[in-house]
Amino acid sequence: MATLHHIAIIPGDGIGAEVVSEGVKCLKTLSEISGDIRFEFKYFPWGSEYCLQNGKMMPEDGLEVLKNFDAIYLGAVGDPRLPDDVTLHGLLLPIKFGFDLYAGLRPVFLFPGVESPLARISEGEIDIVVIRENTEGEYSNIGGVVGVEERELALQSGLFTRKGIERIIAFAFEYAVARGRKKVTSVTKSNAQRYGMVLWDKIFKEVAAGYPEIRTESKLIDAACMDVIRSPKGYDVIVASNLFADILSDLTAAATGGMGLAPGASFNPKDRTYPGFFDPVHGSAPDIAGKGLANPIAAILTVRMMLDYLGEGEAGELLYQAVGKNLAEKKVRTIDLGGRSQTHEVGDDIVRILRSFS
Ligand code: NAD
Ligand code: IPM
Ligand code: MN
Repeated sequence: MATLHHIAIIPGDGIGAEVVSEGVKCLKTLSEISGDIRFEFKYFPWGSEYCLQNGKMMPEDGLEVLKNFDAIYLGAVGDPRLPDDVTLHGLLLPIKFGFDLYAGLRPVFLFPGVESPLARISEGEIDIVVIRENTEGEYSNIGGVVGVEERELALQSGLFTRKGIERIIAFAFEYAVARGRKKVTSVTKSNAQRYGMVLWDKIFKEVAAGYPEIRTESKLIDAACMDVIRSPKGYDVIVASNLFADILSDLTAAATGGMGLAPGASFNPKDRTYPGFFDPVHGSAPDIAGKGLANPIAAILTVRMMLDYLGEGEAGELLYQAVGKNLAEKKVRTIDLGGRSQTHEVGDDIVRILRSFS
């Protein structure tokens, strides 16, 4: 009996729709090839256009609707016609917070066939997984604005709970053990952020004590950004707060070929009550939207992470191999990787490679 997975698809804004359709193409191909995986897709037209027409990014009962799916696949949201805090607090962040998807996983790897902008770094030499705390920290949305003119005042608070810190750091170590990884680096700014991040550092030491086989390191965000560029080979698993891991995920993506290659997953490792949420690290890229220039590989590798989450690791591995082959061949690639192909041509090439495997 074929396993049926119910996937909610939110193409979103800008390049979102362009890249998501390539990811779906790969899922459909894998389903055809394997014969025992089936997907049911339901599309939701939520995002900035929807917001301009309806005054909100998704309907009031959006989370109620989404909660019945096995996974959610999003392209990106963000549109120059709307303030970014409105778009993001209207859709992306409510999903992560509302479903308690506390673990954000953002792996990067320097694939054969891809050049790093860093000197003297070759293929395979960067292999980093950024693990992001997804449900609190600097994104907790606690604060407000009062006053006008010279009395205008904004208050923005970070929320750091023992429970929230402990569970993401424990996840980072469990992930390292399960994947045979050797080192976990924690990144904070506890010299300046002396409450939440001092607590983070303390809990990192406590949790690390339970994993003597894993090397550990604690770094400040400024020094970590510098050092990831200076010696990226020294990084393996990185665990950090919501904001710092956000920054580090773009930084590590840039070191391994750019935003067009960096996938992302957000899920609750302990509780499957709500669906996992899968979106590439990149945004809606208004500068290249609608031109067929976007690299769909980040969105396709995101599908691979979704397959792993759904227990379809074998299909996920096949897709990973196909992406690796496309990149190694250096023939069909988008402009960010020095090629001339369109978004859909890269998707088609990966489908061709998938079919050649069967
Ligand atoms: P961005 O990631 O959209 O773009 C940054 C740069 O990377 C741009 O030059 C863009 O052209 C390039 N780029 C991104 N994805 C690419 C791809 N697949 N192929 C080739 N090049 C790619 O970041 P930004 O410009 O800061 O943000 C644009 C909008 O997206 C904003 O509204 C922002 O809030 C939003 N955003 C949304 C998400 C999300 O929905 N998950 C993530 C990040 C940013
Ligand atoms: C990401 C994005 C979002 C985040 C923004 C757009 C709110 O940058 O998914 O990395 O920081 O969570
Ligand atoms: Mn980001």
